[in-house]
Amino acid sequence: MKNIAVLVSGGGTNLQALIDAEKSGIIKDGKITCVISSKEGAYALERAKNNGIATRVIPRKDYPDAASYTKAVTDALIEEKADLVVYAGFMIILDEQIVKAFPNRMMNVHPALIPSFCGEGFYGLHVHEAALAKGVKLSGATVHFVTEVCDGGPIILQKAVPVEDGDTPETLQKRIMEQAEWKILPEAVSLFCQDRLEVIDGKVRIKD
Ligand code: GAR
Repeated sequence: MKNIAVLVSGGGTNLQALIDAEKSGIIKDGKITCVISSKEGAYALERAKNNGIATRVIPRKDYPDAASYTKAVTDALIEEKADLVVYAGFMIILDEQIVKAFPNRMMNVHPALIPSFCGEGFYGLHVHEAALAKGVKLSGATVHFVTEVCDGGPIILQKAVPVEDGDTPETLQKRIMEQAEWKILPEAVSLFCQDRLEVIDGKVRIKD
């Protein structure tokens, strides 16, 4: 059974999807053992507490730079004996120290089809604003391993979602969450926990 630590910054609907998936048996061989928030008062913390999951708050504002913040988060994850680290709406970019500590053991959910609308500055509703501004007819979500390149790590799963006439960033965000993020994130976590993900030449192979 692998220990899953989840990093959050906000509402935590992806965390909720993981909690529900663990309860319903969609996540095999893994257990969410800890939730770490970069913000005090994040609703994701309530979701964890309501489900008996240990929480920690490591506020970004308490640290002078990315290096000291990354060290604090990395140390906490090591203390928690995390086997897998999931970025679920975690809005802080951490530096390479954490990638060295958890190589191919961290995954992120991004609300677009990478390599579109990703990288620094593309987070939360900004991603959907950019997709609508470009006029794409399809967007979606991607789950990928975290490397030192922001949103650039090996892609694990993707799911496309149609853009509809009259969409706002909010309506598109909601459709992508419901139809893609909340499905492929638990699926990717389960594959990891069953040792079914292999990275070869920067690409993910899913083992049968
Ligand atoms: C989700 O759409 C997630 O994909 C996105 O923020 C939202 C968080 O919602 N993450 C990023 O943009 C990271 N680059 P949640 O807190 O309800 O899961």
